[in-house]
Formats: sequence, structure tokens, C-alpha cells
Amino acid sequence: MKVLVTGGMGYIGSHTCIQMLAAGMTPIIIDNLYNSKPSVLGRIKEVTGVDVQFIEGDIRDKAFLTKVLKANDIQSVIHFAGLKAVGESVEKPLEYYDNNVHGTLVLVDAMREAGVSSLIFSSSATVYGDPASVPIKEDFPTSATNPYGRSKLIVEECLTDFQHANPDWSITLLRYFNPVGSHPSGKLGEDPQGIPNNLMPFIAQVAVGRREHLSIFGNDYPTIDGTGVRDYIHVMDLADGHIAALNGVGAKAGLHTYNLGAGKGYSVLEMVQAFEKASGNPIAYQFAPRRAGDIAECWADSSKAEHDLGWKATRTVDEMTQDTWRWQSHNPQGYPDEQA
Ligand code: NAD
Ligand code: UD1
Repeated sequence: MKVLVTGGMGYIGSHTCIQMLAAGMTPIIIDNLYNSKPSVLGRIKEVTGVDVQFIEGDIRDKAFLTKVLKANDIQSVIHFAGLKAVGESVEKPLEYYDNNVHGTLVLVDAMREAGVSSLIFSSSATVYGDPASVPIKEDFPTSATNPYGRSKLIVEECLTDFQHANPDWSITLLRYFNPVGSHPSGKLGEDPQGIPNNLMPFIAQVAVGRREHLSIFGNDYPTIDGTGVRDYIHVMDLADGHIAALNGVGAKAGLHTYNLGAGKGYSVLEMVQAFEKASGNPIAYQFAPRRAGDIAECWADSSKAEHDLGWKATRTVDEMTQDTWRWQSHNPQGYPDEQA
């Protein structure tokens, strides 16, 4: 099966391509390299032995997309491409709506023209806003508190309307919880540019000596130890979730919505301790005020994905921290700029 992977050079996309190859699928990547490096391709080859086809380009270019879709006999699209930094989205809302919302509409329009009617979209647990209770199920109310989250919600709504008007399409909304970890080889991982926004890459950079200490945003939440609790999911489990979705519902007309989480919450302090164990290094930290927009706790009920797709996260927090540490310690500055 040939699958177009937008944003396939990025963190989740690159890991998903590896798992697709293992499952006998053929990923074809398009990416504008806005938040990724060409050397990712060489790393995918080192791990899989396969030269994945990569075409540089932007999802907002309809003529380009249509040409790629038609020329490659694509059966499905997995759509990762987009911008994802919450703080930046508050400063640059137009860029976020342009890339995430407009970009997705252009992609769907190009798919329609090329006659490709199967789409998997990268959504986020952020669409649940501040949930009334945990664990979170797919039918919980949705809301947004920042432009990034709103862009995901708007896309979900646009795709829902589009699927209703085009009932022969298969559209799958995958709501990721907190993806962390790396390929177990240590060759691929998360490579944020500048100061990391998210917890795991920040801890990893403290452990490797790139940053002095972690600021823990809030120690007065109503949680086990006062720090925020999240559902961390290994990126390899998340990658497998895409293959399960392609196989399970990728050819089944309808709108399919799934939580992809591990179904268990860990506090910031628990993650710090797990990382200290994995790396053998102490992680210096200081408590800081709560971060605007943060919630106390959030974890998934992913039983719908287990029931419908036969998918379940299996990798432990120890694997998440060990694999992240292998990637970070072997690649302290992330990916090299150029293809090796
Ligand atoms: P990433 O930034 O590592 O990957 C996204 C890729 O898309 C990058 O390689 C970037 O260069 C590319 N891209 C961006 N705009 C593009 C455009 N206009 N045209 C072509 N390529 C473009 O991000 P990621 O962590 O791999 O996330 C992938 C998707 O999953 C995103 O849509 C993100 O919003 C969503 N998501 C991520 C998380 C997370 O914690 N990482 C959580 C929930 C949802
Ligand atoms: C964040 C985004 C969310 C996005 C998700 C995945 C916000 C408000 N939410 O979720 O929209 O879908 O990333 O990309 O940004 N923490 C610290 N110190 C740090 C970093 C984080 O204490 O330096 C804490 C946070 O307060 C939180 C936990 O660690 O309790 C996890 O934070 P993070 O990794 O940023 O993920 P989320 O906030 O869950």
C-alpha cells in the first residue's frame, strides 16, 4: 500500500514511516523541512535499509500535491504536517491557521482532485480543553484555549463536515496524548529547535548538560505530588497506532475518531525520577509558577482503539526514558544539518 505522509520528516512522521516499512507499506514523504532536517532520511535508511522517497514541498501548494498524489498511485494519506508550539501560536495565530487549517483544506482539495479518499489526521488531546474528569473518552466535549488547539479543533470540524458531505470517504481523527521516546536504536528522536517547550526533551537536554535545570511549572496542583499529570505515550506505540488505523479503518467509509494514549498518568516529578534512573544523571530542577493554559491532569481512555483497531500501547515509562536517553546521549545536538 502506497501512503503519502505529509510532515514525514518530523518527529512522529519519521517513526511512523519506519513502522510502516516494517508492516510492508510504502511511505512517500512530503515535507517543507520547516521543522526537520534532510539527515532524517539517512537515519531511516540506517534503521530500515530502505531509501524512502522524499519530495520537498509545501502542503499549501495544491498543484504540487495533486501531481504527487496522481503520479504515485497513492491509496491513503497520513497528515502530520503542521505547526505545533502552543506559545508560538499565541504570538503568530495567522501562521498557525494558515499552515494547519488552510494547509489541510488544500490537501483535501488535492486529494479530491486526485481521487484519493482515505485520510488520517494528527489531532491532539488539546481538543478536550480542561476535561471535567479523567480518563478522557472520545465523546467528551471539545474546546480550545489557544490558537494551536483551535486550529486542531477547526480542522476536526471541517473534516467532519466534509466527510458528511462525502460519505464514501474514510477520515480518521487520531487524538494523540503526550508522545515521548525515540526509536530504540537511538538513531531517531525528537529534535526541537531552540528551547524545548515540552517536558521530555527539556529533561533530556538537562541530563546531557545542554541546559542547567528544569523549571517545573507548578507544584500546587491537586495531583499525587502537586505537579501536572499527563498520559505519556511512546512514539513507537503511537506510530503503530497509525498502522492499526490504516489497516482497521483506512478503507472503511466513515468518520473515525480515536484517542491514542497509554491510559495512565505520570506526574512531572515521576518523569524526572524515571529519567534519572535511565540516564544515571541527576536532573536539577526548580519549582516555578504554573504555565498559563496548563491543566492539572489528563489521561486517555483508549479502549475504543483497542476494541476497533486491536491497538494498545505496550511500551513502559522505563522504555520511554531509556530510548530518549539513548537518542539524546548519542546525538546531544540532535540531527546533523546535512545528510551524512
Ligand atoms: P514535527 O514538527 O516534528 O513534524 C511536523 C513536520 O511537518 C515537520 O517536519 C515540518 O517541517 C513539516 N511541515 C510543517 N509545515 C509544513 C507544510 N506547510 N508543508 C510541508 N511540511 C510541513 O511535529 P510532530 O511532533 O512530529 O507532530 C506531527 C503532528 O502531530 C502535528 O500535526 C502535531 O500538531 C501533531 N501532534 C503532535 C504532538 C506532539 O506532542 N508532538 C501531540 C499532538 C499532536
Ligand atoms: C503541550 C501542549 C498541548 C500539546 C502537547 C503536545 C501546552 C499548554 N499544551 O501539552 O497543546 O498537544 O504539548 O505537543 O503547551 N512541564 C514543566 N516544565 C517544562 C515543560 C513542561 O513542568 O519545562 C510540565 C507541564 O506543566 C505539564 C507537563 O510538564 O504538566 C507536560 O508538559 P508538556 O510536555 O509541555 O505537554 P502538555 O502541556 O501536556
